[in-house]
Amino acid sequence: MSATPLLRRDSGEIVLSAINIAKSYGNVHALKGVNFEIHRGQVTTLFGENGAGKSTLMKILSGVVTPTSGEIVLDGATITFASAADARDHGISIIHQELCLAPNLSVRDNVFMGREIRRITGVDFAEEAERTRALMNELEEDIDPLTLVEELRLGQQQIVEIARALSVNSRILIMDEPTSALSASEVEALFKVIRDLTSRGVSIVYISHHLEEALQITDHAVVLRDGTMTAKAPRKDIDLEWIVRNMVGENFDLGSPPTGYNFGDVALSIEKALVTEVSGADVVDHLSLDVRSGEIVCIYGLMGAGRTELLEAVAGRVALDGGRVLLEGRDMSQMSIAERIASGLVLVPEDRQRDGLVQSMTVGQNLSLASIGAFVKGLFTSSGREQSLVAESIRRVTIKTSGGQAAIGSLSGGNQQKVVIGKMLATQPKVLLLDEPSRGIDIGAKAEVFRLLAERARQGLAVVFSTSEVGECLSVAHRIIVMRRGRISAQFGVDASKEKIMAASGEAMIG
Ligand SMILES: Nc1ncnc2c1ncn2[C@@H]1O[C@H](COP(=O)(O)OP(=O)(O)OP(=O)(O)O)[C@@H](O)[C@H]1O
Ligand SMILES: [Mg+2]
Repeated sequence: MSATPLLRRDSGEIVLSAINIAKSYGNVHALKGVNFEIHRGQVTTLFGENGAGKSTLMKILSGVVTPTSGEIVLDGATITFASAADARDHGISIIHQELCLAPNLSVRDNVFMGREIRRITGVDFAEEAERTRALMNELEEDIDPLTLVEELRLGQQQIVEIARALSVNSRILIMDEPTSALSASEVEALFKVIRDLTSRGVSIVYISHHLEEALQITDHAVVLRDGTMTAKAPRKDIDLEWIVRNMVGENFDLGSPPTGYNFGDVALSIEKALVTEVSGADVVDHLSLDVRSGEIVCIYGLMGAGRTELLEAVAGRVALDGGRVLLEGRDMSQMSIAERIASGLVLVPEDRQRDGLVQSMTVGQNLSLASIGAFVKGLFTSSGREQSLVAESIRRVTIKTSGGQAAIGSLSGGNQQKVVIGKMLATQPKVLLLDEPSRGIDIGAKAEVFRLLAERARQGLAVVFSTSEVGECLSVAHRIIVMRRGRISAQFGVDASKEKIMAASGEAMIG
């Protein structure tokens, strides 16, 4: 991909140092004087809770954000970046946590947006398409360069974002949560690309809340906490426990499914649900499932197994091509999304940034948005009641924000996700569906969200959530459904084990 000469992977000399970097937004001190180093041809991983300052630091190193104070030294000389384009000219690129793609443009046009390949005759679209195809090959993703981005699933959009950064041939590539929507095999392909880049001397900065996965690729670990660097060590000196301890100051355990009560009646019935793609393939293939009130069901499966499509069909976001969805025996199949929410059937979607939030509104407005019906119906009569509900939500899902009045865009990526979960819980649902609820949220918040779900389940809420992390199924759910090619390939209760679940999903054990 690039003509950079081969370098020894262990050379590790420092190519960039950030010295005493501070960044404040009003009275929010996102970074309080952080030192950070990037080693040539190696992967430095940045760990930290939601809101710790990871993205802010990376935005500073890539010219997107200007630091309040501090110094950046590149190749031994102090430098300031006027813009992201300026940083890119110095060989620094970033893959943003929030996707920055134009949905109505093709994959090719997104990859080369703002950096079109120009000839005297105009833009060389053929060359751009060719290079896009080569990048997709490298990432082992079978996407035609002319496909519109809006037609791609979330994980594929993330691949496009990655391809765009790779197309620049940077010396320093920053990846802020690049794998949050990727399948295990897509992550493997990305890791191959990372190893290839580092062997050619490219430096990588990697951020992920998937700690085990990050450990597989990292050479140096740095931990941020509340805008301060709390620990730093080479890979050989650390393990998972070290990361968690330094991130949150204690060890977290997701615990076990809630017990000591009986499930109620069937709350949700999915009867022979059928979702057919334009291509004619059945992504959800006559799937039936009953969930009782108080029960927590986990849906495990590989990307493309049909989990998202199933949950979206149940919530009314995509049409059923056959079958029915019943809430407490009432047929919901013909109802709109809003009618389903009002009846108590609610989904926290996979793409929370795009589908779950109104970016122009405040945290408080977003939190009360889905339950507005409840406010106007007089359940909560005063806006004082609404405000206290907002404050309660912020506290309960541990959203790190200056308050309900803050703009949603001022929250860290993970905290925006927690707003969506809080917003849906505020509607007092009977059945709560969550598509990959723990993606992008830190380990402490994860434990908090699952604790909250367990508490609500105890009070009679039926919970169905999808995940790609087997550990979550085992420690949270009463029942585990494995989906494969649109169908249920296995079901487990207390007899579940990691090996059995992965085997039923068609997944090989990694690592
Ligand atoms: N534009 C902004 N205006 C106001 N506050 C901001 C802005 N951007 C970030 N912050 C605040 O700075 C702090 C650090 O945010 P940052 O996005 O760097 O966290 P993060 O470590 O990347 O978290 P996550 O894991 O959730 O992505 C947070 O308290 C956040 O609310
Ligand atoms: Mg972030």
